[in-house]
Amino acid sequence: MGRILCVANQKGGVGKTTTAMNLAVGIAKAGKRTLLVDLDPQCNATTGLGQQPTANHPLVSRQPLKDSLRKAYVPSLEILPGSRSFQDVEVLAGSEASHAATLSQHLASGLSAYDFVLIDCPPSLGQLTQTALASSTEVLMPIQCEYFAMEGLTQMIEVIRRVMDRRPNRLKFGGIVLTMYDHSLELTKEVDEEVRDFFGEIVYQTVIPRDVAVSEAPSHGRSVIDYAPRARGTRAYVELCMEVLERE
Ligand SMILES: Nc1ncnc2c1ncn2[C@@H]1O[C@H](COP(=O)(O)OP(=O)(O)OP(=O)(O)O)[C@@H](O)[C@H]1O
Ligand SMILES: [Mg+2]
Repeated sequence: MGRILCVANQKGGVGKTTTAMNLAVGIAKAGKRTLLVDLDPQCNATTGLGQQPTANHPLVSRQPLKDSLRKAYVPSLEILPGSRSFQDVEVLAGSEASHAATLSQHLASGLSAYDFVLIDCPPSLGQLTQTALASSTEVLMPIQCEYFAMEGLTQMIEVIRRVMDRRPNRLKFGGIVLTMYDHSLELTKEVDEEVRDFFGEIVYQTVIPRDVAVSEAPSHGRSVIDYAPRARGTRAYVELCMEVLERE
C-alpha cells in the first residue's frame, strides 16, 4: 500500500500548503506515482500549481474522484483540485465522526493507485481535516518558528489521537517539519529546542528557511524546485523529500 500523508495544523499560515505542494513535486520527480489532494476551500495548493479549483467537487457531489483528477506539469504527479464548495462540507451539521467516515471512505477509494498521496488540509479541525486524517497513514505537521508555535497543538493532537484510536495501526504521527526558519533569530532557536524536546525524533532534521523564492513560486504556478532551482528553499525541500522517502 502507498503512503498517504496528511499535512495538517489547525493554525493558519504555518506552511501546510507550501510543504504539501513542494513535497508532492519533489517526490514525483523522484519517480513515485504521486497525488496531491487539495482539501482546503481556499484552494491554494490547486492554484499554486497552476490549476483551477473545481466548481463541483466529487467529495461533495459523491462522484468518482478519477473524473476530477488533473495532470500536473510534472510527469507522475496528479492533482485532485480543491473547491470553494468545501465550505458547505465544513459547516454540515450532524454526527461529525460518521460524516467524516463516509467522506473518508469515498476519498480512500480513489487513493490506492499511488505510491504517495499528500493531502493539504485547511487551518481548522473540522470535517475536512478529520476526513483527511481518517484517510491517511501519516500526519505531517508543519510548525512555524514563531511565538505561540505550540499553542493549540494539544487540541490538534487530541483529534489525531481519536482517529488513531478508531483505526488502530493505520495512522501514525509521521513527522514534524519546522518552517520559516531563521537561523539569525533567537526565537527560532528557542522554538526549535522546545519542539524537539517535546516531540523527539519525529521532528525532521531538515528545516525550511524563510526564503522569498518559496513564497514567489506559487504565483508562477510552479514548485520552488522548478521556479528557483538554486534557492535555499529548494535545497531544503529537496532534502526534506529525501528524509520523507527514507522514513518509510
Ligand atoms: N519557507 C518560506 N519562506 C517564505 N515564505 C513562506 C515560506 N513558507 C511559506 N511561506 C509563505 O507564507 C504564507 C503561508 O504559507 P502557506 O500558505 O503554505 O501556509 P498554510 O499553513 O497552508 O496556510 P493556511 O492555514 O491559510 O492554509 C504564504 O504566503 C507562503 O507563500
Ligand atoms: Mg494552506
